[in-house]
Formats: sequence, C-alpha cells, structure tokens
Amino acid sequence: MGVARRDCGGLGLGLLVVGCLILTGLELCNCGMTSSYVRNDDLSLDMPLDSDVFRVPPGYNAPQQVHITQGDYVGKGVIVSWVTPDEPGSNTVLYWAESSQLKSRADGFFRAYKYFNYTSGYIHHCTIKNLEASTCPYSPYCSSFLLVHLSELMSCLLQFDTKYYYEVGIGNTTRQFWFITAPKVGPDVSYTFGLIGDLGQTHDSNTTLTHYELNPAKGQAVLFVGDLSYADDYPLHDNNRWDTWGRFIERNAAYQPWIWTAGNHELDYAPELGETRPFKPYTNRFHVPYKASDSTSPFWYSIKRASAYIIVMSSYTAFGKYTPQYKWLQKELPKVNRNETSWLIVLMHCPLYNSYVGHYMEGETMRVIYEKWFVEYKVDVVFAGHVHAYERSERVSNIAYNVVNGLCTPMSDQSAPVYITIGDGGNLEGLVTEMTQPQPSYSAYREASFGHGILDIKNRTHAYFGWHRNQDGYAVEADSIWLLNRYWNPSQRSSVAAL
Ligand SMILES: [Fe+2]
Repeated sequence: MGVARRDCGGLGLGLLVVGCLILTGLELCNCGMTSSYVRNDDLSLDMPLDSDVFRVPPGYNAPQQVHITQGDYVGKGVIVSWVTPDEPGSNTVLYWAESSQLKSRADGFFRAYKYFNYTSGYIHHCTIKNLEASTCPYSPYCSSFLLVHLSELMSCLLQFDTKYYYEVGIGNTTRQFWFITAPKVGPDVSYTFGLIGDLGQTHDSNTTLTHYELNPAKGQAVLFVGDLSYADDYPLHDNNRWDTWGRFIERNAAYQPWIWTAGNHELDYAPELGETRPFKPYTNRFHVPYKASDSTSPFWYSIKRASAYIIVMSSYTAFGKYTPQYKWLQKELPKVNRNETSWLIVLMHCPLYNSYVGHYMEGETMRVIYEKWFVEYKVDVVFAGHVHAYERSERVSNIAYNVVNGLCTPMSDQSAPVYITIGDGGNLEGLVTEMTQPQPSYSAYREASFGHGILDIKNRTHAYFGWHRNQDGYAVEADSIWLLNRYWNPSQRSSVAAL
C-alpha cells in the first residue's frame, strides 16, 4: 500500500500541513494531491449466482429484493418496493411504530415487464404516506372516530425520527424489516448520508457495501449517484442480474432509504434486441417521489431530508435549454429556502469536473448549461459517479468564458460547489486509473481506489466529508474535508482539508 503524497515542490508533508493551517480562512491551498497508491490491475468478477449475498429467501413466493426510498418531499413518507417471484401475492405493507402494537397498512400495486427473453417477477411498490385515509384501518369511520380514537388514528401517521417495523408478504412467507424516518426538516438538524456510486455486484462491490455498513460513522441514508447493477454488461442485458443486485443490496436498502440517481447503465437501450424504451428495467424496479417536487419525470426530482435539500439530476435525459429538466430546475432552485434546509446538494451521474482520462470532458455540456446556477444559488456540493475512481475538486467555477474572451480556465470561486466524484463502488468494469497530467489546479485530491463516502452534516454551518477506501479499516478516511456552508458561511474559506 502506498502513501499518499502532495506534489507541492520541495515542501515536506509536515510543512505543508502547517502551511495549510495558516492558510485556513485566508486563501485556497492549490496543492492538488494525486495518491501514489497503486492498485492491482486485476478486474474483480461479479459474484457467482450461487453466492450467499444473492440467496433467495425461503418459502413459496417469499418477497425478495426489498428496498426503500424516501416517499415524499419532506421525509415522512417511505416507498417500500419488493419482488414476488411466483405470483403477485399481496401489495400490502403492514407497519407499526416500535413503541406501538397497533399495525397500520398501506396498499401499493405491482407491475411486471419483459425485456427481450426475460420476464420479471411481480415488482411491488407501496408508498407509506404522511396520512393517507385509504391506508388507515379506521378510515371508514374517521369522522366519527376522530375524537375518541385520536391516538389510534395517529398511529397511521408516520412520525419523524421514529423507528417503524414493516412487514411484506402473506401467509408463512412474510418478512419483517424496519426503518427510521427522517428527523423533522430544519436548518441545524444533524444527519449522516452515505455516498455510493457505480456499485455493481462484484466481490469489490460487496466489500464496499460491507465497509459502508460497518463504518462507525453510521450513515442513515444512501445518496446513490447512479449505475446500479451493470446487468447491461451481460449478453442480452441479462436482467437476472438486476434480480441478483436487488437481493444483494437488500441487507442495507431494506433498512435505510437509498436515494436514486440514474446512470448510463440504467439506460438498457438495445434496439438490436427490440428494446427501445430507455430505462425500462430501472423505472420498473425503482420508484422515486418525483411528483412531490413538481417534477414530471422520475429522472430529476428533489427531496428535503433533515437539513439537506437534495436535487437529483439526469445526465442521460434531455437537459438543454427549454427541456423539461431545464425548466424544472429553473423553477426549483429559487424555491430552496436555506433557512429551512441549509445544505444544498446536487446528485448527478456524469461529473462536471473530472481529471481522469476516462470520461474526460463528458460532463462539459451539462457544465456549460448549469454551472452558473450552481454558483448563483450557492450549491454546497455536487456528487457524481461514472468515473470509477475518487476525486474531490477545489471550489472553482468556469462561468466567465463567453467564447471570445478567452477566459476558459476554471478559477477559484468561493460561491461554487465542491465537486466530488465517487464512482468507485467496485463494479465489474474495474477502476479508471489513467489520469490527465499534470493534475489540473481544480483537482484537490484524486485516487483510483474503490470505496464509499460519508457526508456528516453537523449543523447549518459545518459538514464533514470523508472518503473511505476498501483497502483500509472501516473507520479510516483516505481523504476528508470540512465543508463550510456556502449560504451561512459565504465569506469564510469554503472548505478546509481535515487533518
Ligand atoms: Fe459506471
């Protein structure tokens, strides 16, 4: 294992640390770091179909591939999804608070799809909402029962920051899980997000997920930046690998919400197979609450969670001027109230700033269109995947260029986001190791290793981000940074490398 080094002339690491401490609050330290860690080039294969992580739960038609995501705008709703393989079975989720014996129910629906020679199981989606009359066992009597059974009625209502158990399936093949609802939205609410991208289903993917699960920072929800199963890397886009992926992530995704972003491997566009509807498996399997944020498409939407306003964008649906995504974001950004959600976070698959050779400049068209908005609205951090490696940028912008003025170099900009590429989940395509040289000044740290991130929001002013490599212990951070909120700390230095 190599030791990370900074390429900063003759300065030793110790001297640099002292120097950067002095610089704190004064100016940006433009000493980009390229880790010297050299990784084994061997590609990690997908785990075999009979792996224990893909195990089918016992019992006839037992629910499998259970996963949850946020089900509304503010974090009081949960979408529960699962697959029954043999017959539709029940669409119902029973749920109850940890402190209550009274079970409430929510009813969803199922769908199935065909993809070339593959037919899916019965894919269920059920939204447990804030209070939905049809989901409440007392609903036929709500008006008369309201006063005398208020406490029972309240049990139908998902409360903030509360542990709920839930159950799917029928007969002797019911399965039970739990989740904890988000805390009430507020500017100083602390919350810990995990960051995972480009996960796939290799042995490295399994290591990444295990490291996330065992990270003592204890992520409460996963921000997933796209490229899920990599089923499309198989002949005929073998959708059985969507099923194995669903079973693989269940051990975490059934217990905490994964916030979904679509990547290029979700496209599954294969006209040679007669499959011309993009995102067909993805949209059938993963539901998101896009309508809650007035979006017209599941590929771009926003949610509030704790003190964060999270905007999900799509790199692979139209985003040019006047497109639905453009017009939605144009309306969305002014709606963000930093007095309510102090942190503004954007997720997308293709990074806008990337100094690896792989996918270099692919995000340029989106950057040209949207970067000025990210600066204007003081987005704190943009997370992306796609590049199978890790990279963190300085706070820079490249919005001055107007074709004729020649101002085409990214400049330090304290109103700009930090861009973090975290497409290092560990899929079968392996790492992108070749980097552009020399390291551009916008790149603060880069390393081609598998891993995950943790964004630990402390309050309205401070958040801590750490990057955890799979080759290290669970608690070790190979890169870390204090993020100072751009709205609440506008005049202070934007980010301080954690020591
Ligand atoms: Fe990828």
